[in-house]
Amino acid sequence: MKINAFLTMLISVTLFSSCSFKKEDLQSVDPIDIKVSKLLSSMTLEEKIGQMTQITITALEKNGAPGVLDKNKLKEAIHKYKIGSILNVPNPGAPKPKRWDEILNEILEETNQTDKKIPIIYGIDAVHGSSYTDGAVLFPQQIGMAATWDTQLVEKCSAISAYETRASAIPWVFSPDLDLPRNPNWSRLWESFGEDSYLSSEMGVAMVRGFQGDDVGASDKVAACVKHYIGYGSPPTGKDRTPSIIPERILKQYDLPIFAKSIEAGAKSVMISSGEINGTPVHASKKLITDVLKNELDFKGFVVTDWQDIIYLHTRHKIAATMREAVKKSVMAGIDMSMVPDNYTFFEELFSLVSDGEVPMSRIDDAVGRILKVKFELDLFRTPVTHPEDYPDFGSSSSVAMSYISASESITLLKNVGNTLPLPKEKKVLVTGPTANSMKSLNGGWSYTWQGEKSDQYQEDKFTILEAFQNKIGEQNVLYAPGVSIFEEIDIAKSVSLAKKVDYVILCLGEHNYTETPGDINDLTITEPQVKLAKALAKLGKPIILVLNEGRPRIINEFEHEMNAVLQCYLPGSEGGRALVDIVYGDVNPSGKLPYNYPRYTNSLQKYNRKYTESLGDNEQNDDADYQKSYNPQYEFGHGLSYTSFEYKNLSFDKIFIKKEDVVEVKVDVQNVGVKTGKEVVQLYISDLYASITPEVKVLKRFKKIELQPGEVKSVSFTIDLDDLKFVDENNEWIAESGEFEITINKLAKKIVLEKEL
Ligand code: BGC
Repeated sequence: MKINAFLTMLISVTLFSSCSFKKEDLQSVDPIDIKVSKLLSSMTLEEKIGQMTQITITALEKNGAPGVLDKNKLKEAIHKYKIGSILNVPNPGAPKPKRWDEILNEILEETNQTDKKIPIIYGIDAVHGSSYTDGAVLFPQQIGMAATWDTQLVEKCSAISAYETRASAIPWVFSPDLDLPRNPNWSRLWESFGEDSYLSSEMGVAMVRGFQGDDVGASDKVAACVKHYIGYGSPPTGKDRTPSIIPERILKQYDLPIFAKSIEAGAKSVMISSGEINGTPVHASKKLITDVLKNELDFKGFVVTDWQDIIYLHTRHKIAATMREAVKKSVMAGIDMSMVPDNYTFFEELFSLVSDGEVPMSRIDDAVGRILKVKFELDLFRTPVTHPEDYPDFGSSSSVAMSYISASESITLLKNVGNTLPLPKEKKVLVTGPTANSMKSLNGGWSYTWQGEKSDQYQEDKFTILEAFQNKIGEQNVLYAPGVSIFEEIDIAKSVSLAKKVDYVILCLGEHNYTETPGDINDLTITEPQVKLAKALAKLGKPIILVLNEGRPRIINEFEHEMNAVLQCYLPGSEGGRALVDIVYGDVNPSGKLPYNYPRYTNSLQKYNRKYTESLGDNEQNDDADYQKSYNPQYEFGHGLSYTSFEYKNLSFDKIFIKKEDVVEVKVDVQNVGVKTGKEVVQLYISDLYASITPEVKVLKRFKKIELQPGEVKSVSFTIDLDDLKFVDENNEWIAESGEFEITINKLAKKIVLEKEL
């Protein structure tokens, strides 16, 4: 018997006490499901719809008194509309844990006066640490965490993030972001794990595990919310919330597995994408939400909308002529909770739809049952609010150290002509550029506020890149002039004249802080004032170290050839300045690897796992020169240099001819042939040589980060099975076709053969 069917029966038993069931059935039922069904059967329609309603905290503030809750508004929300969830940060941004505790307790006092005392589930965008809490540790943004290629590190950091979010009395985070950006212009690329489906799914699972642990009800764990299901990162325009066209087989092969893995790992909630795919807004897609997510993937948690997205079905997407129709479409598609977020239209419309029989009670019970289940699993009924005094390690030095380690493992050395780096400590440097003295640039968006414009104010005690240089080699050895801001020239001549007085120029370029639509751009090229500064400095012939501090790879092709070294920092968080400078001076050996192709040209945005036809030149011969001409990113996915060198040898398989049930063991020896200890990411790619759907040139299938002392050799092994040889065919089915596959690790490659079944 299916649990749901059983529960329906159990509800009937509770209600009518006239049915019999077997003892074994009872034993196999999760006790939480029994609690849920009991509570559900006692709830009124208003109480149920209230559970499905999520309101932003700022809508409950007193007019003209930012950060102060209006008792009447709170009472209305909880007693009249019986809301189940609140989100977001009160004005003016990022309270300390004690203030969070007060706010959550104020809310609790109100829910305690209700009949059923159902706890509110409070949700927050803690996307790189508990990033809406003053004093919390801020880690590199997800794109940087992906560049560490270290899943254990990611899990440890999100466990700290869970702890610090609970120290702020909050049990639910809108993270991880599992979007698969197909266009590097997209303003949310840095919130994702980059362009590869496998790397993203491994990282997503690590983050979910770190947040939720084995028992999400533990006092240091939070419920994860994987977002934004699905296809959000793919608009061809690169602009936020614009339409995507994604064939079903592509969605199934690349986007879906990322979500499937995190759901299998137990993610408790899913946030829906604000985008539309092939003309259907995801919020209105029964196929994607109910058929695929809830039925095929067997997702047992609850589904929340993104910001205002039911309203947008009517006002933006225009697939619903009225709000009522929008509510009906989305709830019938499978939405369980609406991030309304600042009125009660959803509540009113849904109440009327159910009363008129247009939305069945079974749909409402499914939605509310899912929400209540997560509330029970989080133990909110017994511990609705956690308290900061129980979290003595909030902001601890060991947690700060983890942020530093993540930043230093993520920063990627993209270029190092003639071993320019590491620099000698006794030489003079000029630090210049718009990102040189800015905590905003290091942290990016979703830091204290939505757009992250207050990082310098909240992180006065942290080191900007400039301050980290001064701290490392003494103020007397560091000259500084910004030269330009991101969007305007300030004084390029001053930077040039200071550059003449030093041995090295540290040119810090990149982006301002942003997220979502405010981060949309019309040109991926790095802004004009920055290009001017770089070119003016390059004329001097001094060695220049280009430090990139950016959420997405802005084109630097016009001047990159004049740079002696290039370091990509991404958005490395509060310890990024220190980590960068330790790498510049060789106290840390860089080990980050790019999680995306860094494009050279605005109109050549191929992914690393391109098709062969994307690599063809402009004549039919496809010789090496042409190949280079058409596929020629500035830096390729997986690339990242070290101060030592690694040699790969002895690639071997335990079998060459394989049947479908076989597992292949792949081994390779890696040696540190340099003189410094270093970390290397061993990357295994598979190429299906011929297939009925045009195969990709190569696809990442496994990776492992290892550390090697000088001279040390490590043997690394991976196992590969039939699933790794599969793709989605024309009928949208996963299949593996017999034939040859090439396995590549570094520059070593060998073939295996999947035999035909007789
Ligand atoms: C974003 C989500 C975020 C939500 C709540 C939306 O605008 O798209 O990623 O979780 O707001 O703040």
